[in-house]
Amino acid sequence: MTIEHSVITDTAQGKLILGIESSCDETAASVVRGGTEILSSIIHSQAEEHAQFGGVVPEIAGRSHLREVHRVIREALREAKVSPAELAGVAVTVRPGLIGSLLVGLSAAKGFALRHRLPLIPVHHIHAHVWAATMELTTEAFPAIALVVSGGHTALYRAESPREFTPLAQTLDDAAGEAFDKVAWILGLAYPGGPSISKLAEEGDPSAFRFPRYRPKALPNSKELGLERPLGFSFSGLKTSVLYHVRGQDALADTPAPSDIPRRADVAASFQEAVVDALVNQAVEAASREGLDRIFVAGGVACNKRLREKMTAAAIAAGKTAIFPSPAYCSDNAAMIAGLGWPLYEAGATSDLTLDASPR
Ligand code: KG4
Ligand code: ZN
Repeated sequence: MTIEHSVITDTAQGKLILGIESSCDETAASVVRGGTEILSSIIHSQAEEHAQFGGVVPEIAGRSHLREVHRVIREALREAKVSPAELAGVAVTVRPGLIGSLLVGLSAAKGFALRHRLPLIPVHHIHAHVWAATMELTTEAFPAIALVVSGGHTALYRAESPREFTPLAQTLDDAAGEAFDKVAWILGLAYPGGPSISKLAEEGDPSAFRFPRYRPKALPNSKELGLERPLGFSFSGLKTSVLYHVRGQDALADTPAPSDIPRRADVAASFQEAVVDALVNQAVEAASREGLDRIFVAGGVACNKRLREKMTAAAIAAGKTAIFPSPAYCSDNAAMIAGLGWPLYEAGATSDLTLDASPR
C-alpha cells in the first residue's frame, strides 16, 4: 500500500501523460508534461489510403489504425525518452469520431493501462482541439469563445473551462472541412481538400466570383419578442453553388472533375473566401454577444492561412483576440489529447477499464 502510494505521488509530480488519438484518419500518440510541454508527437496519417475516395472510408481507417497504433505509441515514448513507469496516466480520445477507429485507440490504451497499472483519462476530441489553442498561452485562457472547424465538426461554443462547453451554434449540414474536401473533388484537386484549395487559392482572386455566405434567418416575430438572430453555419448550398458554377445546373457532385476547369484558381479562392467570411462573421458575433474577449479557433481548418488572417483582423477590429494553435497542432494529433489529459487527471476525471467509446 505504501509503495503504491509513493509510486502514484512520484508519477503525478512528473506530470507526464501519454495521449492516444484514433478518432478519424490519423493514428497518433504523444507524451506531454503538465498539459503544455510537448515531449513527442507522432502522427501516422492515412490520407494516402483515402485519397482515391475523396474522403475517409471508415473500414479502411479502422484497419489502418490497428496496423499502426502500437508502433506509434512505442515511438512516442522513445522520442520523449519516457518509460511507462514514469507516466501518471493514459489519455485517450473516446468521442466523437468513427466508432471502429475510436475502439482501436481505446483498446490499445486499455491494454497499456492494464499492463502498466495506470489510470485511463477519457478525452473529448473537440475539447482537445480547443486545448491545443491554449497550450502556448501564458495568460488565463478561459472563459472564451471556441470555434471548432474540422472535417467532422463546425461549431461555436462558450468554453467556461477546459471541460465545460456550452454549444452556441453548429452547422446545419456539412462541416467546413468537409466542404473543402467536397469542393476539392469538384475541382479535381487532391484529398484532403483544405490544403489543396488553400494552395491553389493563393494564385486566384478571392473576389472573382460571389458565392453565397449563409447567415441564419431571424425568426418572423423576433423583434417583438426581443430575440437576436440565431447563430449558425451551412455549407451545403455553397458547395452546390460551386458545383453548378463549374459544371452547369444539372451536374452531379460524385462524377470525376472535367480535366479543364476555366479559372480554377479564382473559383478556389472565391470559395475559400465565402467559407472564411461565414466563419469569421459568426465567431466575432458570438464573442460580442457573450461579452468575451478571446476567440479560440481550432481543428484542421484552423490551419487555413486566409482564415487566420481574416479572423485575426476582424477580432482586433472588434476589440478582441483570435487565438490559433500552431499549424502543426490544428489537425488531428495526440499532443492535444495528452495535453488536456493533465488538467483532467488533476481534476480526478479518470476512469477504469470499463471505459467505453461513443461516435457522438
Ligand atoms: O481536425 P482534422 O484533422 O480532423 C477532423 O477531426 O475532422 O480536420 C481535417 C479537415 C479536413 O477536412 C481538411 O480538408 C481540413 O481539415 N483542412 C483544411 C486545411 N488543412 C486541413 N481546411 C482548410 N484549409 C487548410 N489549410
Ligand atoms: Zn479533429
